[in-house]
Amino acid sequence: MNFVRKPLILKLVVVLSLFPGRAGLAQSAQPVHAQHAMVASVHELASQAGVEIMQQGGNAVDAAVATGFALAVVHPQAGNLGGGGFMLFREAQGKAYFLDFREQAPAAASRNMYLDQQGNIIPNASMVGYKAAGVPGSVAGLALAQKKWGKLPLKRVMAPAIRLAKKGFPLNYADVDDLKDPKLAQFPESYRIFQRDGRLYQQNEILRQPELAKTLERIAKDPQDFYRGKIAQALAADMQKNGGLITEKDLAQYQVKEREPLKGSYRGYEIISAPPPSSGGVVLLEVLNMLEGYDLPKLGNRSADSIHLTVEAFRRAFMDRAELLGDPDFSRIPVAQLIDKKYAAAWRESINPAHASVSTALQRPAGTFNQLDRVARVAAPHESDNTTHYSVVDAQGNAVAVTTTLNGTLGSGVTAQGLGFLLNNEMDDFSAKPGAPNSDELVQGEVNAIAPGKRPLSSMTPTIATKDGKLFLVAGSRGSGRIISSVTNILLGVIDYGLNIQEAVNAPRFHHQWMPDALRLEDVGFSPDTIAILESRGHKIETSPAWSDSECVAVDLKTGDRMGASDPRFPGRAVGY
Ligand code: DON
Repeated sequence: MNFVRKPLILKLVVVLSLFPGRAGLAQSAQPVHAQHAMVASVHELASQAGVEIMQQGGNAVDAAVATGFALAVVHPQAGNLGGGGFMLFREAQGKAYFLDFREQAPAAASRNMYLDQQGNIIPNASMVGYKAAGVPGSVAGLALAQKKWGKLPLKRVMAPAIRLAKKGFPLNYADVDDLKDPKLAQFPESYRIFQRDGRLYQQNEILRQPELAKTLERIAKDPQDFYRGKIAQALAADMQKNGGLITEKDLAQYQVKEREPLKGSYRGYEIISAPPPSSGGVVLLEVLNMLEGYDLPKLGNRSADSIHLTVEAFRRAFMDRAELLGDPDFSRIPVAQLIDKKYAAAWRESINPAHASVSTALQRPAGTFNQLDRVARVAAPHESDNTTHYSVVDAQGNAVAVTTTLNGTLGSGVTAQGLGFLLNNEMDDFSAKPGAPNSDELVQGEVNAIAPGKRPLSSMTPTIATKDGKLFLVAGSRGSGRIISSVTNILLGVIDYGLNIQEAVNAPRFHHQWMPDALRLEDVGFSPDTIAILESRGHKIETSPAWSDSECVAVDLKTGDRMGASDPRFPGRAVGY
């Protein structure tokens, strides 16, 4: 993981109230306020692109599409044309919609494609190179959202991205550091564009992307070009030449799926989030349902008691994630049962407030999924590097939460020849080896095995919360499995601990994902006393540098002010007007 701190000088320009944060990081305790509209994203230029479009009369969806395409230019680590994602849109009048533009496995993909003759996983096969890529969905997803709900022509909405690709933009420290990635050097087109054939970019140098500009112009004219036109032909030809699986037919058959957003509640707030093939909404709602039974506000923010209970809820919901979730178009996913408050209450019975459970010994409540529906255990999802989330609220109160990814930072490392964009390595989100015994000598489940046309299980958690029908919060994060715990931590921060949205985003994060059986803490922000209490309760503590990048917008329920909170762990920015 690369963790890059916000440059202090830049931060000083926009934020008046500062206090010294961790590792030289300047943290504001106050969100950016604006009266009308707000975009929060990992890059200031991408946030500005969204605001520019709203000032031209666009709505939150127009802005989200503008920001999404701009991120494909200014944040090649995760912003993308060659990846996929999810969009959650809530109209000001209250109806919510969800677009799934997750990648699909190509038709030639097969369940054992990343295994050698002996049945062992081939290192990196699902992570680097042409074969690691699923059929990209981002272009179709953004274009469909714009067509269904946007107000402005696509060309206009994409203008900022095209301008940024043509004219270039100054690379920040985080970009320069990420672009050193050795995997880029394995692929001549990536090496040429992102590493200038070995003359690596320095901070503040301008990155111009003429091929990407041309691709964006073609998409602006006709997004179908990506799936059935010249872009599709060029992409498929490059794949064929280099041993990739994606064909013109795969691209032509790619489908965005409109799905029902998941809905639940937490202490009087309505929580709307991502359904499968994301695990995000299910795990988030399961955790919140379990925690509703405890007086967390009384136990206190980041107290050992509140961390313990939250972690025990994570442990249980992540076990369900590992065993029961996958692409709903391929398996029956028991979503309704999992997010039922009665199921959470039954799970809660097994939580010992004084002692940590042992993940390997954890049993679901009697009569639930232990019998017929039981899927054998799989290893916990691993942490990979990059994804990006952005949140938008417009002047009318429409709200959009988008999380999008190439999976690893800079995806598979492959830039499509002549097209200027990186391809994902989302195939790694499937279980590469279903049926293999894990360390408990249990076999992995089938539910997330590779199959042609299938979508890999995700953790992306674009989420919207409302109170009495009024928009309250738009949230989401990067960070693989940690996405879900970060979003949960932020919701608990504002709802239970009385933090403002910026404080909730800044607050030190903790995470547990069932397997490995470790309570992970960010290495700054937890007191030794708290850690000692948690250890005495049986938690195996691991600390690591700051993680996730959460880009959120809250609405002041009294004044209607938009409050943007960009994560100080990365050089993002909330921009409003
Ligand atoms: O869809 C997923 O859950 C993963 N591909 C996301 C990867 C990720 O968040 C890495 N970020 N740090």
